[in-house]
Parts: sequence; structure tokens; C-alpha cells
Amino acid sequence: MPSPSPDTFGQADDSFWLFGYGSLLWKPPPHFDQRVPGYIEGYVRRFWQASEDHRGTPSAPGRVLTLIDRAHWDTLTDHHEPPERVWGAAYHIPAAKVAEVREYLDIREINGYSIQFTPFHPAPFVTSISSLPTTPAHSSTRSITASTTIFAKPEKQGQAINCLVYIGLPSNPQFLGPQDPDALARHILKSQGPSGENREYLFLLEKCLLELSRDSGDKHVSDLVRRCKEIEAVAQTQAEGDEDGGDGAEQTQVPVGESLHIDGSSEQPEEVEK
Ligand code: BEZ
Repeated sequence: MPSPSPDTFGQADDSFWLFGYGSLLWKPPPHFDQRVPGYIEGYVRRFWQASEDHRGTPSAPGRVLTLIDRAHWDTLTDHHEPPERVWGAAYHIPAAKVAEVREYLDIREINGYSIQFTPFHPAPFVTSISSLPTTPAHSSTRSITASTTIFAKPEKQGQAINCLVYIGLPSNPQFLGPQDPDALARHILKSQGPSGENREYLFLLEKCLLELSRDSGDKHVSDLVRRCKEIEAVAQTQAEGDEDGGDGAEQTQVPVGESLHIDGSSEQPEEVEK
């Protein structure tokens, strides 16, 4: 079977592999028969894409992920050095489910993102993944459990897999380019959209990445998490001081200190989130 490409993809209901580096890590596609932790190369993962439809609104866009071609990234001024690899997970979509999954992914219309195909490298050694988010009965979010995390079949181990990946190209209107990390963290903390709080997206991402493998952390992501936690801690202390002082000052209206709530506290739209 010839390898799919953006030009030929969708002409037949052939099975395909989909690489998730963002929300697909905790909100997988509706059908897959293998989920393989691993990485791609030649890209840099960044919170440089505006989100008007999931973690923000048209009047107050949030911030979600895109991948920047490494050669293009090299021409930009950024605050974080990127790792050589973008870690994530590849999902194998069986032929019988391709039409349904393609409809779910809304491949033609996904807001601001284009599709590319790139070699995916399965992780050589993987520890079992058992503590990913659970799905509440009322939520449409599918969860990944140990039983749905199926590692590469032996014939695929050590072999690169041609994977479909969504990229918000620098030419798309939602692409923002380099962001100051402190301003970015503050923006994430104040944003929310139909899929929930932007901070939840960031915190879930870090959790999922750290669980993929020993090497799968991403400094850009962890630095943003650290900054958000610091900002929230300062706001919490301030709010407590205001309460204790009882000086009549208005309380700071900064989103603070709620614990990470994975369990569908927000309405999750059915279409794919970036
Ligand atoms: C993901 O990898 O989770 C993803 C990224 C961009 C668009 C859709 C999904």
C-alpha cells in the first residue's frame, strides 16, 4: 500500500496513523486499535496558536499548541530551547473506522490547522500507562486506560511509521509567533472556552507528557506550568491577605488555586480539540 500524503489522504478508507501532541493525548479519537508512545523530529511544540473555539472565544482567544518546522523556528527569537524530539502518541485508526474518525477530526475544516505526514518513532521501552484521566458517565470525553493503551506490534518496533499530524502553519490566521513566557502564562490563566479552562489544557498536557516516557518532558510546557503555579500562588496569598486584613479592599479576581479537575467539569464539544 502506498504511504498516504496530504494529496492522496481521504481518497480511500485505508487505515492510517494519527500523531497526537496536544489534546489528543488525553482526549483520544473515538476509535483506535493501537496507541503507541513515541516521538517525531524536525518540529518544535509551542503554545503559539490562538484558540477561539475550544480554550477561548472569538473575543478572547486562548492559547493552544502548534508545531513549528524546526528550520523555520531557527529563524525566530524564542525564549526556550526546544528538545530534539516532539513526544506524543500515535493512534492507529483501523480501516473500518476511518470514515467515522475522519468526520470526527473534521479534517478539511479544522480551524487553522493543516495536515502533514511525518515519520513517527515508537518509544523503544515503554512503561505501562495506567493513571490517565477517567471519564465521567455524563461526559463525551473518551479516556485512555491501560487496556486501551496498546503498544506497537512487534513488526513496528524500531520502525518509523508515517503519521498524520495537524500543524497550525505560520501562514494561518491563528498563528501568533513567539510569545513572552510570563505574558503567555498569564494569558493562559485568564482564558477559557467551550472546552474548559485554558490552564486545564496546559496542566493535562504536562501530566500526559510526563507519563509517556522518562524522556518525554517538554521544557516549554513545564516552564509555563511552573509560571502558572507561581502566579496562582501569589494571587492566592494576596486573596488570603485581603480576607484576613478585612480592610474592605476588593478581592483579586484572578483564577486561583482550584485543583486540577479532569473529570468533565466543563462541557466538552464533540469535535476534535487542538
Ligand atoms: C493534537 O495533537 O492533539 C492536535 C493538535 C492540533 C490539532 C488537533 C489535534
